[in-house]
Amino acid sequence: MKKLFLIITLSLFSNTGFANSSNNSSDPLATSALHPKQMKWNFDGFFGSIDRQSAQRGYQIYKEICSSCHSLKLVAYRNLTELGFSEDEVKQIASEYMVTDGPNDDGEMFERPSIPSDKFVSPYANEQAARAANGGALPPDLSLIIKARHDGPNYVYSLITGYKEAPEGFQMSEGKNYNPYFEGRQISMPAPISDDGAVEYRDGTVAAKEQMVIDVVNFLQWAAEPETEHRKKMGVRTMIFLLILFAVLIAAKNAVWKKVK
Ligand code: HEC
Repeated sequence: MKKLFLIITLSLFSNTGFANSSNNSSDPLATSALHPKQMKWNFDGFFGSIDRQSAQRGYQIYKEICSSCHSLKLVAYRNLTELGFSEDEVKQIASEYMVTDGPNDDGEMFERPSIPSDKFVSPYANEQAARAANGGALPPDLSLIIKARHDGPNYVYSLITGYKEAPEGFQMSEGKNYNPYFEGRQISMPAPISDDGAVEYRDGTVAAKEQMVIDVVNFLQWAAEPETEHRKKMGVRTMIFLLILFAVLIAAKNAVWKKVK
């Protein structure tokens, strides 16, 4: 038994040792990505839920900063009501963008203002235009980015807050920025949130750099999994239902067998 305990303890320690060495945190010239910083999120865990206020501010960050390069093709304007925007606000937001629709009766495509059921309008007409504007790199669509990357929320948080001066001797390619959380440690995206107060929040929250990054992660988490909460709530309800059913069955069983005993 003692031996087993020793083996378990040893393997635990050697595991953490392994994690650290693979993290490359000691070698400044390493090109493999650091493990993301581990943050606490409101949506973590079984009973977690997305912080709506934060996600609503995150939408503002997406709109005012990220949307000049990144599309969000899987989200429709009307989905924003789930974050607490009123129907009128959503109509207003949508109408600020033009979409191509058609063809009309003459067979021609035409432009019209967006309506709430339209998906978010993309910043570039196509991939080539997006690459041309970003030094050859493609800003990925952000709808599912939280799911598409391992440890998504922590990764995006670490990436956006992780920009640094390149260490001495590190070979930088032209037009790239040093970021130890990105694979290869060189990224074409310039630090998108680098100053406090880059936006002025509608709800009066102080727009500290850290706050803005947390907010945009909450927003992207919601964008990637708008149905999570519904699912979690259904799970809890189902469990409560099963517990009650269990209690009723036990009571019924006792009642039925009482005389026999
Ligand atoms: C000036 C244009 C620009 C802006 C503004 C911008 N990005 Fe990017 N972003 C890019 C480009 C280009 C890439 C691709 C980088 C590469 O492949 O080297 C990228 C990549 C990313 C990635 C993916 C990294 C990966 O693992 O592939 C994430 C996540 C991201 N951006 C988030 C954001 C967020 C959040 C914002 C707003 C706060 C934002 N970006 C603003 C241009 C931009």
